[in-house]
Amino acid sequence: MEVRIDNLTVKINEKKIIENISASFRDGIHVVLGPNGAGKSTLLKSIACLIKPSKGKVIVSDTELCDLSRKEISKMVGYCWQNPLYGFFESTVEREINFIIKNLGIPPRADILEILGIKNLMDRSPFELSGGEAKRVSLASILIANQPIILLDEPFEELDWMGFKALQKLIEKFRNEKKVIIIAVNNPILVEPLKPDTFVLISSGSIKAKGPWTELNDELLTSNGVVPRGYLCRFCSK
Ligand SMILES: Nc1ncnc2c1ncn2[C@@H]1O[C@H](COP(=O)(O)OP(=O)(O)OP(=O)(O)O)[C@@H](O)[C@H]1O
Ligand SMILES: [Mg+2]
Repeated sequence: MEVRIDNLTVKINEKKIIENISASFRDGIHVVLGPNGAGKSTLLKSIACLIKPSKGKVIVSDTELCDLSRKEISKMVGYCWQNPLYGFFESTVEREINFIIKNLGIPPRADILEILGIKNLMDRSPFELSGGEAKRVSLASILIANQPIILLDEPFEELDWMGFKALQKLIEKFRNEKKVIIIAVNNPILVEPLKPDTFVLISSGSIKAKGPWTELNDELLTSNGVVPRGYLCRFCSK
């Protein structure tokens, strides 16, 4: 499967938020990098057709994605919110998890609840969870539908060490299942263990660089306001 975005431009209240973004993503792990306010979340939301672009298209296997019905789009693409609270509306975690399954009429992927460790939260209100619990529930409530295209918006924010490793395991599982995985982060260190395939670096709404992950260098990152890959290990001692 290939997701292709052609000249995507999004305007909100007449202001250009992203401009002429073109890229293509095959199965594997792709990272969208950029400083705060660069347009990463806007890009992911427009790939999921949650925001209507003023120009450009999202093409999946020769079909213009946003021409499909909302139900068909939801079966193809899972967008996981940067802020989990934006996605919650049910009274319990169990209802939140079941919502997408019922609405799309598809079988759930039970391994996701197991891996993300949320089985003990089922009878809780999603609005009363801790930050990390909410992030895990939010991820599970989307990914349970097993979409072939997964968009993860700052997925590691709020997660503790167990949560971080669990999500890493899940993403690696998705990669083995040949899904297209696009992850937005402003800190590349968080995705380094996944050995991503490609990156797209955006700043002020447009692409500054893109290519294989191995070609991402620290000068490119710092000159665009992103944490350099080598930063943490300046403080590592042997
Ligand atoms: N609904 C909206 N109305 C007005 N401005 C918006 C809206 N959504 C986003 N923006 C603006 O568009 C720009 C890009 O926002 P976006 O959330 O895509 O950035 P981001 O790269 O995801 O940033 P972060 O690293 O902080 O998550 C920001 O300046 C933001 O304030
Ligand atoms: Mg964002």
